[in-house]
Amino acid sequence: MSQEESKIRAAEAALKFIEDDAIVGVGTGSTVNHLIDAIARKRLRIDAAVSSSEESTRRLEQHGINVTNLNSAGQLTVYIDGADESDRHLRLIKGGGGALTREKIIAAASRKFICIVDESKLVNVLGAFPLPLEVIPMARSYVARRMVALGGRPQWRADFITDNGNEILDVHNLDITDPVALEAEINQISGVVTVGLFARRAADVLLIGSDRGVQTLRRDDDA
Ligand code: 5RP
Repeated sequence: MSQEESKIRAAEAALKFIEDDAIVGVGTGSTVNHLIDAIARKRLRIDAAVSSSEESTRRLEQHGINVTNLNSAGQLTVYIDGADESDRHLRLIKGGGGALTREKIIAAASRKFICIVDESKLVNVLGAFPLPLEVIPMARSYVARRMVALGGRPQWRADFITDNGNEILDVHNLDITDPVALEAEINQISGVVTVGLFARRAADVLLIGSDRGVQTLRRDDDA
């Protein structure tokens, strides 16, 4: 089974978390694209979606799904999104697609965060995937120096501007043994808009697609 098919399995497994007439938070990326297609294909009766990117908004609207804004939607019952990595505590690295800021806002504003991945994303320790930071453009070099001081190797994602008009640094080589502490530390740096660590607000449910089916991990199951 291909990685894409595993992503489709995870995406389809998330449909059962969507209640009739709900306003659903929708993330960004190839796994979420499968989710959007499945919502349309199965004709789920949702009221609207709150989208984390222009890319997802386009796809939702192409399917005739109403997209609304978070300020008018209030608290969402469910947010569904992919991830670049997850550990077994459902702490995530996100932002490979550059949509991390809106993703973090919608995750914070949702009662339940369902994360959909293929099995290659499950890791013991976060950090093999470079950690994305959204930064204010004038702060890029300053933030990069601060990352070097933390032992990281920042790389500027050249030719990429986020939906919010900012830039991305992908930081390699960080020691992420304490993701909650590192998230807080990087959040303090002036010029950092969002760090792609989702540890303080981790996922609630992780659906892992593979050729064996879909495995479900819940944060409540933490040892
Ligand atoms: C976008 C993200 C995505 O969820 C992450 O990059 C995973 O993408 P994909 O489903 O394509 O593997 O954080 O900012």
